[in-house]
Amino acid sequence: MKGAPKTGIVTVTLNPAVDQTLDVPGFTAGAVNRAVAETRTAGGKGINVAAFLASCFPGGGPVPVTATGFLGEDNVGVFEALFRRRHIHDHCLRVPGSSRVNVKVVDREGRSVTDINLPGLEVRAESWRALLAAVDGLAASNGTFVLAGSVPAGVPETAYAELTAHLRARGAFVAVDASGAPLRHAVAARPDMIKPNVHELSDLLGRPLSTREEVVAAARELCGTGITLAVVSMGADGAVFVEGGRALLAVPPPVTVASTVGAGDAMVAGVLAARLEGGDLEACARRGTAFAAGTLARLGPELPPPDRIAELMAAVRVEELQGFGTS
Ligand SMILES: Nc1ncnc2c1ncn2[C@@H]1O[C@H](COP(=O)(O)OP(=O)(O)OP(=O)(O)O)[C@@H](O)[C@H]1O
Ligand SMILES: [Mg+2]
Repeated sequence: MKGAPKTGIVTVTLNPAVDQTLDVPGFTAGAVNRAVAETRTAGGKGINVAAFLASCFPGGGPVPVTATGFLGEDNVGVFEALFRRRHIHDHCLRVPGSSRVNVKVVDREGRSVTDINLPGLEVRAESWRALLAAVDGLAASNGTFVLAGSVPAGVPETAYAELTAHLRARGAFVAVDASGAPLRHAVAARPDMIKPNVHELSDLLGRPLSTREEVVAAARELCGTGITLAVVSMGADGAVFVEGGRALLAVPPPVTVASTVGAGDAMVAGVLAARLEGGDLEACARRGTAFAAGTLARLGPELPPPDRIAELMAAVRVEELQGFGTS
């Protein structure tokens, strides 16, 4: 034992986003258009994971949830409002500029969606060093860290690898949800958990993963390198969960889909919530899948009420996968 257990969870979001949705009936490019409604929500993968966790452990309950990373000081309001509403501890570093804004122009009449993504933050070397120090400080009182999403300009591609190495040395449990080069470097630093989707995993390994057997063999290969828990999500086909020679397939029950954005983030939150309560691999698969399925019916990073989550958990189909890829 290394002293008192550290129950808190910290999510690290290096490249947060503001999702701005404009409701523009009959949107026409090259013409003057009128928006009839506008919504802005705080986003970015780590922020979403914090929001899901905070709604499952409300009021700062038994598991305090902390968000850190960078926020552009010009548009912090939407993030601060979310943190206040959900009782998320705000340890984000303010840096000059705006967090990236992703504009969605929705034309319900024409059933079209137009995306305009603005450039993100440019982070200075001293801010990156300050963040490493802040994360180190948080490791003194928190035992679980989620490193999620893309890496902004100015931060090295090895960011998640560096953070993973620091945090593992402090005895923390580290989950990484990233893609491309940052994921590749992070995997080499052996986080405790990763949750790529099947495309991110195929990109990481440089080979197509067309069958479930290939997906499970790939997840198993990663576990062979020292990662404890590999979760590979496959959209509507569910996800495989591989840990310690065991592999499970979890398929969600049929649900209404309003938006699939953030389903992967909800899955990460659900798996960690189950782990923190001492759940086994099946509990992680059920809770992760129920969180993901639960958020599909909603537009923002929100979960349905606890009784609906319990219903979804019971309805998740979990199958033990036998005799997979043991070459
Ligand atoms: N269309 C869908 N129908 C039913 N379940 C879905 C659907 N899309 C996603 N899910 C559920 O959500 C989980 C995660 O989804 P997905 O594989 O799309 O994650 P992702 O690509 O990491 O998403 P993101 O990074 O955008 O949050 C799936 O394993 C599944 O349980
Ligand atoms: Mg994802």
